[in-house]
Amino acid sequence: MQHMFEFCYHNPTQVHFGLDSFAKLSELIPRNAKVLMLYGAGSIKRNGIYEQITQILSGYQVVEFGGVEANPTLETLDRAVDIVRAQNLDFILAVGGGSVSDGAKFVASASLYEGDGWDIVSGKHVVEKALPVGVVLTLPATGSESNAGAVVTRAATHEKRVFYVQPARPRFAILNPQVMASLPDRQLENGLVDAFVHVCEQYLTYPVGALVQDGYGEAVMRALKTLADSFDQRRETGWTQNLMWAANQALCGIIGVGVPQDWATHRMAVELTALYGIDHARTLSILQPSLLRETIRAKGAKLEQMGRNVFGLSNPTAEATIAAIEALYRSVNMPLHLRDTDISDSGAVPRIMQALRNHGNSALGGHAELDEARTERIIRAACSL
Ligand code: NZQ
Ligand code: ZN
Repeated sequence: MQHMFEFCYHNPTQVHFGLDSFAKLSELIPRNAKVLMLYGAGSIKRNGIYEQITQILSGYQVVEFGGVEANPTLETLDRAVDIVRAQNLDFILAVGGGSVSDGAKFVASASLYEGDGWDIVSGKHVVEKALPVGVVLTLPATGSESNAGAVVTRAATHEKRVFYVQPARPRFAILNPQVMASLPDRQLENGLVDAFVHVCEQYLTYPVGALVQDGYGEAVMRALKTLADSFDQRRETGWTQNLMWAANQALCGIIGVGVPQDWATHRMAVELTALYGIDHARTLSILQPSLLRETIRAKGAKLEQMGRNVFGLSNPTAEATIAAIEALYRSVNMPLHLRDTDISDSGAVPRIMQALRNHGNSALGGHAELDEARTERIIRAACSL
């Protein structure tokens, strides 16, 4: 019988889920903490979240740092690090989506590192200590609120890189579905599709007989498909609760233990954000179908299993499953090709290939044996005019 790999699993993030969960903050942050409250470009001020959180934290010493961008930059986060050091702050509270959560992990780590913060992002420095991090999530999508991953961009060089900082994994995540009321449809679509692709990256490889992980991955994907099919109910509590929990479970680590993973779509897609500023989830829907077609032989068995167990196809061929994935993305208005966005660049293919080469992602190998020629075929299929 096929068998899974050995693994260790420990996810220490406390999750507080529910409509009254903000109030937990005063139990979760130590009374004597000196808090840096990190947030984005201002949505929390418009939707009332800022007011609710600052009221709960009124007895605390809190220094605010707003202005963390979507796809946060090293340049901005370094300014937050300077404040933490200058004022001896010792707790980082993120109030935002994946960008603010990721930014908080960077700030928590870089504040205790003497060298250049980019060393952490590039992997040159392995983080062994970080300030404690907590997250009040305002946008369900990335799972960043209870994982150890983060993504930071160096604006000066257009480099967007993923890194892992175990010591900065959030101590707690507050998941209050009410925050979703102010999210534009575009962000709900993004969240649904980002979470779906997160499961795919941990599931769409080859079978190892991992009955629990496969079954749970399929359950999360079926839930996301149901949410796409019922998108007209997106303003109802049940819908928002399910997206918030599905997106968290998709990337808290549980689905991926002991099974082969393949993050090629994510690793290649960062270049589309770095070069063109396309939303993270939309870069995934642009690249993934082409990547799956190019690697259809290596991923065939799992694509067929997914066709049967997620989409309920009567004839679940690998190609029919890819078509069902595309239909799912289309149903929530995602682009399936670069030309479906407002970007028009006749030099896109060589530009993206060069960026992939520069960042060591043009021949990722892996179980689908991605070499440079296959990578270029994927980029051409997804991005040529
Ligand atoms: O900045 P503000 O004004 O707050 O506006 C944000 C931002 O413009 C807005 N928003 C957030 N919550 C809102 C809201 N607007 C109205 N109401 C609310 N409640 O939404 C916009 C997007 O926010 P962002 O945090 O950038 O989105 P998301 O959560 O999709 O995060 C994307 C970032 O996470 C990285 C991506 O690469 C990207 O940089 N990822 C992180 C991962 C991880 N740590 O595990 C995994 C993912 O694959 C992903 O790569
Ligand atoms: Zn993602």
